Amino acid sequence: MRVLAFSLLLTVSALAAPRYNEFLYGVAYYPEHWPEKSWERDAKLMKEAGVNVVRIGEFAWYLMEPREGVFDFSLFDRAIAVMAKYGIKTILGTPTAAPPKWLTSKYPETLAVYSNGRPADDQTRRHYCYNSPVYRRLSKRIVEEMAAHFKDNPHVIGWQIDNEFNCHISECYSDSCRAAFREWLREKYQDLQSLNERWGNAFWSQWYTQWGQIDLPFPAPAYHNPALMLEFKRFISDSVRSYQRDQVEIIRKYRPNDFITHNGYFKNIDYYLMSRDLDIFAFDNYPCFNNEPRFPVGSKLTMARSFHDRFMIMEQQTGPGGQAYLLRTPRPGEMSLWAFQAIAHGADGMVHFRWRTARKGAEEYWSGVLEHDDVPRARYEEFKKEGADIGRIAKEILGSRLVSDIAVLKDFDAEWVYDYQYFTSEVNVGASFDHLFRAASEARYNIDFIGRHADFNRYKIIFGPQLILMDPDLALKIRKFVEQGGTFIMSAHSAAKDRDNGMTPHVKPILVNDLFGVEVIDFQCYQPPSRGKNAIRFEDGALVPVNVFADVLKTTKATPVAVWDQDYMKGTPAVTENRAGKGRAVYYASFFNLEAARELIRRYAAQYGLKPLMDGVPAAVEVTRRSKGRNHYYFVLNHENETVTIKPGAGYFDLLANTPAPAVLTLKPFEYKVLRRTQ
Ligand code: GAL
Repeated sequence: MRVLAFSLLLTVSALAAPRYNEFLYGVAYYPEHWPEKSWERDAKLMKEAGVNVVRIGEFAWYLMEPREGVFDFSLFDRAIAVMAKYGIKTILGTPTAAPPKWLTSKYPETLAVYSNGRPADDQTRRHYCYNSPVYRRLSKRIVEEMAAHFKDNPHVIGWQIDNEFNCHISECYSDSCRAAFREWLREKYQDLQSLNERWGNAFWSQWYTQWGQIDLPFPAPAYHNPALMLEFKRFISDSVRSYQRDQVEIIRKYRPNDFITHNGYFKNIDYYLMSRDLDIFAFDNYPCFNNEPRFPVGSKLTMARSFHDRFMIMEQQTGPGGQAYLLRTPRPGEMSLWAFQAIAHGADGMVHFRWRTARKGAEEYWSGVLEHDDVPRARYEEFKKEGADIGRIAKEILGSRLVSDIAVLKDFDAEWVYDYQYFTSEVNVGASFDHLFRAASEARYNIDFIGRHADFNRYKIIFGPQLILMDPDLALKIRKFVEQGGTFIMSAHSAAKDRDNGMTPHVKPILVNDLFGVEVIDFQCYQPPSRGKNAIRFEDGALVPVNVFADVLKTTKATPVAVWDQDYMKGTPAVTENRAGKGRAVYYASFFNLEAARELIRRYAAQYGLKPLMDGVPAAVEVTRRSKGRNHYYFVLNHENETVTIKPGAGYFDLLANTPAPAVLTLKPFEYKVLRRTQ
């Protein structure tokens, strides 16, 4: 009995071992682009730079299945073996982002279709339809052949499903999608009557009498029903999920111990849902899409980290990048600084894009560690130093987490509602996340973004930016969070509609007006948006400009802490606090712009006595903290091209220098440090 219990325990713990369990450092490698005789040198140079993994295969369907039903993985067998000789493991990408020519010419119905009815051109990538039965069948088959072929290969450790779902094209209007959409709705609503009622189809005579009358939201003379638009987005997201799941199930069958991931963060996917099928979420990090990447990239990383318990970088910018366009080049030191910024924000793996710049094709301007001429230069040296730095921290920081008192609630449904009913281009839910991230980072706090199914009680302060849809579960969750001592700060135009994306007979903010102690009785939308038209004046005199939106409030129970400064609502409440249980529900009657984010974080962090992660840090320097057990790891990143001094005080150990850190440190331009402090 005892033996049985023991072996049962062993089995359970073996099953529970995480599939992702090593800090990976590596590159995207395309052996099919290079003469085989160069592979060995590549592997040697990689090894010298500290590389322990390559990702390969994700665009090579044409090689793996050169003719329909004929499979050949031999090139990859050989490439994996060469890498393995140098201790480098492999992540295999399933090749479905780039179907071979024979496939799209023989089965044109597999192509994605634009809203104008034209099929996507098949001369680049990502031109397939997730719901095409033929594409689904052929995708499953190539993945099955691949997984079966590599079943016993000890050098393969993980899989990337496809590549960047919804990059380039995030909506499809094919016949397959139309049929699948009807089916998806039928399953959800069961009967047409209930769909008609929930969508309000009495409006403009849109009452369906047959499922076959429902269509995708093609361009139309007037605007579409918001209910249809939201369901279309949810349908796209579910289509991606189920397409991904096909592949996950096959790989799990053959390689149950490998980790499975997907890379990228694009439109029309609820990543909280799609990541549930993965072992780790991977983000592709290209800071040079921003001229000043520090804050926007920090915010993106915070979002990517929020989708799953584990997070890594599958593609990290290395050199300049471009296709028909050209982005700015990272200055010496920035490539590794940005890699460390990603690690500072929780990445447990760092794979650079790409080993060598392609000599031909659409990405001949997208630089790798080595350039076209193959000469290792400064970028290789920087990559090598980064590899050594990662080697010094990898074991310790693997699995450590950012712990935050402040969170921002992300609801993909709400984002999709605003994608269609956007009011004006300055209403941008995403921007609120960037502002809140920036304000928290400037004040030296960690901040989390969370989905609505996350545990709210880990936090002291939660922001709800433009949470336009409210439902009883979310309302209850917010109430409990507040009653147990939290502060929930909700922006204007939240809780305006139900989950069907329709208005309701309830007083706004619906389902939570009692908790917030306010009624929204009117609103103003400034057109064109401008800073001069109104502002919010706090009781302590702080004045926060607003650019777009002003809710007009009537307080029922709440106490105003700020009033409108101009317009017909001048002097009426603009920010209110309502005590409930041990906490507070705060209504902020405009959107969270940067000034608002700074003011609100300052005000409520002070009320909870939150301490900055580190004192004595100049503005140029970003600080985050990852924690594991009693150890705290402070990532200190100098984002400026100048030497700066920081004064963290005594008691830190400099992991990269492997020595106790002095109380006062200098950081060279773009330098980073990782300081450990043990509690
Ligand atoms: C990513 C993609 C890569 C490569 C890279 C640089 O979006 O996954 O395959 O295209 O960008 O453009």
